[in-house]
Amino acid sequence: MLARGDQVRGIDNLSTGKQENIADILDRIDFVERDIIDLDAMRTACAGVDFVLHQAAIPSVPKSVLDPLGSNRANIDGTVNVLVAARDAKVKRVVYAASSSAYGDTPTLPKHEAMSPHPISPYAVAKLASEHYMVSFYRCYGLETVSLRYFNIFGPRQDPSSPYSGVLAKFITLMLRGEQPTIYGDGEQSRDFTYIDNAVDANLLACSAPAVKTAGKVFNIATGRRVALNETFKLLEPLTGYKGQPQYGPERGGDIKHSLADISQAEAALGYKPKVNFEEGLRRTVEWYRGK
Ligand code: UD1
Repeated sequence: MLARGDQVRGIDNLSTGKQENIADILDRIDFVERDIIDLDAMRTACAGVDFVLHQAAIPSVPKSVLDPLGSNRANIDGTVNVLVAARDAKVKRVVYAASSSAYGDTPTLPKHEAMSPHPISPYAVAKLASEHYMVSFYRCYGLETVSLRYFNIFGPRQDPSSPYSGVLAKFITLMLRGEQPTIYGDGEQSRDFTYIDNAVDANLLACSAPAVKTAGKVFNIATGRRVALNETFKLLEPLTGYKGQPQYGPERGGDIKHSLADISQAEAALGYKPKVNFEEGLRRTVEWYRGK
């Protein structure tokens, strides 16, 4: 956004991110450390703003299983605060980071937006509830909203250090250190892993695509290809130089087996096409962690 000349304001409570991630642009953006739970802070944040890209969440399925109240506060109450503040500040459009977890363990693959959602974890329920709030604020108040259902986003700067971190950030950092990763279950579960640049692109497209095609709507953002965890481990071996085997542990509660997106709606309405495929994304991500 800076590269194309936009003025940027960033709000983050730094609960999973780090200020050092934006160190090289900090003097060119208006960054404020606040929580979306704070409505007054959201009102200040939305003043004079054209577009809100709402990515803030407690993003973990297992964490939400342990702490459903915390997930509900951050992932639903926080969203409603952002929407109320955006509506009152007359923001042009709000783009929201929704989640593929909304589909749950429905056997149909690929998942498409017209399917009924079947969320399993509290995280998935909260992410889906916020999607409904997005639609509601468009229909009740005319605030243009677009929900992007992200499918397992990964890439540089993702925090690998928490037990709730995304699997690729964990595997890559462990394998680079020569430490053994743990696969929960048989490793045949699969995901439509999506490199971060594709999600960034989708957000920018969601701001500029015509309202008639996008407002009050939900779109899958993914690559349209799924890869099993066992295969992912194999792809990471040569990239990281890891010589050992993975360890297998019990299946994780609330986990879903397979995830794969139909991305034709995003293509038709937003002009979205994944620019970086899985292998290239893995290569870039490993390079980044290696340089740390
Ligand atoms: C889910 C959502 C995703 C969302 C994310 C937020 C689905 C399909 N995806 O991701 O859109 O962004 O929540 O947290 O619902 N695993 C291991 N070993 C590990 C860590 C994880 O085997 O050390 C396994 C998990 O059991 C799971 C897979 O790897 O089967 C992916 O896990 P994770 O990266 O946590 O993401 P999801 O729960 O799939």
